[in-house]
Amino acid sequence: MQEIIEKLASVREEAMSALKAAPSVDEIEKVRVKYLGKKGAVTEFLKSLGAVDPSVKPAVGKAVNEARDAISRGIDGRHSELKRAEDDLRFKAESVDVTLSGRRTVLGKRHPLNRVMEEVLGVFTRMGFAVREGPEIETEYYNFEALNIPKLHPARDMQDTFYVKDDLLLRTHTSPVQIRVMESMRPPLRVVAPGKVYRRDADVTHSPMFHQVEGFMVDEHITFADLKGVLTVFCRAMFGAETKVRFRPSFFPFTEPSAEVDISCVICSGKGCRVCKSTGWLEILGSGMIHPEVFRHVKYDSEKYSGFAFGMGIERIAMLKYGVNDIRLFFENDVRFLEQF
Ligand code: PHE
Repeated sequence: MQEIIEKLASVREEAMSALKAAPSVDEIEKVRVKYLGKKGAVTEFLKSLGAVDPSVKPAVGKAVNEARDAISRGIDGRHSELKRAEDDLRFKAESVDVTLSGRRTVLGKRHPLNRVMEEVLGVFTRMGFAVREGPEIETEYYNFEALNIPKLHPARDMQDTFYVKDDLLLRTHTSPVQIRVMESMRPPLRVVAPGKVYRRDADVTHSPMFHQVEGFMVDEHITFADLKGVLTVFCRAMFGAETKVRFRPSFFPFTEPSAEVDISCVICSGKGCRVCKSTGWLEILGSGMIHPEVFRHVKYDSEKYSGFAFGMGIERIAMLKYGVNDIRLFFENDVRFLEQF
């Protein structure tokens, strides 16, 4: 009996040190099969119990059971050890340093031209004007003909206008939207039309593409006083309540009479400076009473209806408002420029 007990002890010892060294779950399983499996070393002892002398059977049986239980506990123990080590590794790999300061998101800003455009449209929509748009590629009819700009007018020259092909061109102003809107609506109407326009021109104050806002109002009994009132309100809303406004006789083929609108210089308030060329005034828009010839093209009765129209360049207003002296800065997309607004 002593012999069996000793053999058992050494098998148990062997199993325990194999477990201690087992580097993985797979290795542990191999140890389990080797000692506790169907043909395992400890199992063999159980099988051989039948041949053992009955007087020592209880003692030997107890020893075998103890060995089996000990190895079984050893397996569980090693399992949780490996699991803990694995968890530690994973936690370390996945750990987040909550004291690390966050990454800042770079915030974009609205382009100065969009800001000015929105501001201009806001002033007019609050006065009841609706916003309409027209195409950037136009026909000669809408860009010139219907606006009473004759065939030989210099504006039609290739020098000034980008032609796409014979009868198609990049609109040189937003005034064609007047025609398109009046063709599809009857008075009374109040409309502003923002958009891109194109002219063959490029220097510090001219860009081949720039933005305009057109505006017009048509109804019975609209007079030059309405034009003056609406545009004065606009100028004061845009440039400050103290702004002085001046209407200077001018000429456009599609308005009669026509007036250019000047405001007191935003830099020197009228005292005279480099920006206003010592005149104290800045020209900011063109306007006038819509020409009967224009009404004839859209089949409005000019005996019954009258109206005014105006057009302004957004870049020019933005340059004056923000003191920008080169129009190209608006289109270079240099963040150092854009960040200043
Ligand atoms: N279309 C003119 C321009 O581009 C501006 C304007 C619009 C003038 C409406 C009078 C009336 O210069």
